[in-house]
Amino acid sequence: MGETTVKICPCLQTLWARMFNKSGDNGRSSSKCEDSLDSRTMANSVNNTSRYAAHSFNGAPQPSLSPESGIYRALWSFEARAEDELSFSEGDLFKVIDSTGEWWTARRIDRNGCTLATGIVPHNYLASGEADDAQPWFYGKMSRFEALNHLMSHKNSEGAFLIRLSETGNVGHVLSVKVDNCARHFKIYQTDGQFYMDRTSSFPSLQDLVEHYKSHRLASVERLGQACVRKEPEPLDLSHTTVDEWELPKEEFTLEDRLGTGFFADVFLGKWKNRINVAIKILKNNEYLNQREFYREVQILKKFRHRHLISLFAICTSSEPYYIITEYMEKGDLLDFLRGKEGMALDCACLVDMAAQVADGMCYLESQNSIHRDLAARNVLVGENNICKVADFGLARIIKDPFYLSDEKKIPYKWCAPEAISHGRFSNKSDVWSFGILLHEIMSYGGVPYPGFNTNEVYDQIIEGYRMPAPTKCPKFIFDIMLSCWSANPDDRPSFKDLKPDLENVNRYELA
Ligand code: ADE
Repeated sequence: MGETTVKICPCLQTLWARMFNKSGDNGRSSSKCEDSLDSRTMANSVNNTSRYAAHSFNGAPQPSLSPESGIYRALWSFEARAEDELSFSEGDLFKVIDSTGEWWTARRIDRNGCTLATGIVPHNYLASGEADDAQPWFYGKMSRFEALNHLMSHKNSEGAFLIRLSETGNVGHVLSVKVDNCARHFKIYQTDGQFYMDRTSSFPSLQDLVEHYKSHRLASVERLGQACVRKEPEPLDLSHTTVDEWELPKEEFTLEDRLGTGFFADVFLGKWKNRINVAIKILKNNEYLNQREFYREVQILKKFRHRHLISLFAICTSSEPYYIITEYMEKGDLLDFLRGKEGMALDCACLVDMAAQVADGMCYLESQNSIHRDLAARNVLVGENNICKVADFGLARIIKDPFYLSDEKKIPYKWCAPEAISHGRFSNKSDVWSFGILLHEIMSYGGVPYPGFNTNEVYDQIIEGYRMPAPTKCPKFIFDIMLSCWSANPDDRPSFKDLKPDLENVNRYELA
């Protein structure tokens, strides 16, 4: 049935190969079928028909895997990093046994539902194969940034596209397309069972809409090309064993290049078990460490998980110097990035995109009632496809660094809200003030705030009501956002929850 289907609709070849070629009849038939219920569930789910796929199969049933059956397929290969983890290949099938947390227990099964192996797997490598997932271009619930991250991969050429469900409230389906090495996003409207982007052409399914725009122009998009190739997810943790076990032996880490040096720590690129890239912050002197706060804070930080916050992976504190292990970001800090060749070439839309990513990360911190205290471009890191992540949150509380606590001259006055300087009143709203300064740094390609003012002058001027002028070519609405962040009264400043949609929704959907 599958081969016939692929012949009728060649565009499904990739999907078919992904779903069955690797895990199906690949010589593992010697395994025993241990669970006949699995086989039944499998057979049933394989006969489900997809809402979106109905057209593509010309009536033939599509082998979609229903989420109720607990059967999933691997989107990427994965190499086990601990004994009880399972290694698997793209396309392998799984029956999920326990789906709590981010590491699931699953059986790898063959097409008949027979168990080949049982173990622990990272959940974000699996797709349930339900109706929406079944199309190679359907990415489910996803933010603009994640879409951008997938589309910008060098594996995708012009016209590569995906359809996602917007994360923000009532936007619904969005078509994201790679054009001129940027992403364009189009809102897909849905009324009376019809999908459309402009009133002149509407379609009974997303599949039909996609097929139409493969041969018709859509605003700046000549025509849709290939379904976007999925980018392998970043590791959630070093391994499932490190989820609760965040103290790891130093011997598991090797140090490579030095990434930066500071008063209280040096940062190195390193490897965990000679395999996984990590950033290793080596604390220079425990004198500066508030020990009690350190362990408390590390427990909290370990729980923070967000696509725009640097993940803390582990600590090594059995001997000095202490190590703090975080994810590694290959393009370094945002300040240097903006001042470099790549940053200077960015257009205004890309700059606003980066600011929106920071607002997204800060919105999460705000929702967790956590305060950064030192938000600035130097504390944002840039990764592949210009993904930005906020770093060093929480550090201000645990490191008794003179920079943070004692030496007045080292307080980053230019980023600090006046009430934080005068009364030590740090809050989410003082972070918002700092965000306004960060926005200025971004829009001025890494310019120094208040040029010509020394740190002491800045506070006096701010209290008198002085505010920085807009950077050259900065759109008015962005400058208005900066000014709102610098309201003298913290209550008059927006929250990050307000700022996030303001920065995300500007001119976003060409046809909206
Ligand atoms: N700290 C300083 N540079 C870093 C990088 N590139 N990745 C992660 N953490 C860092």
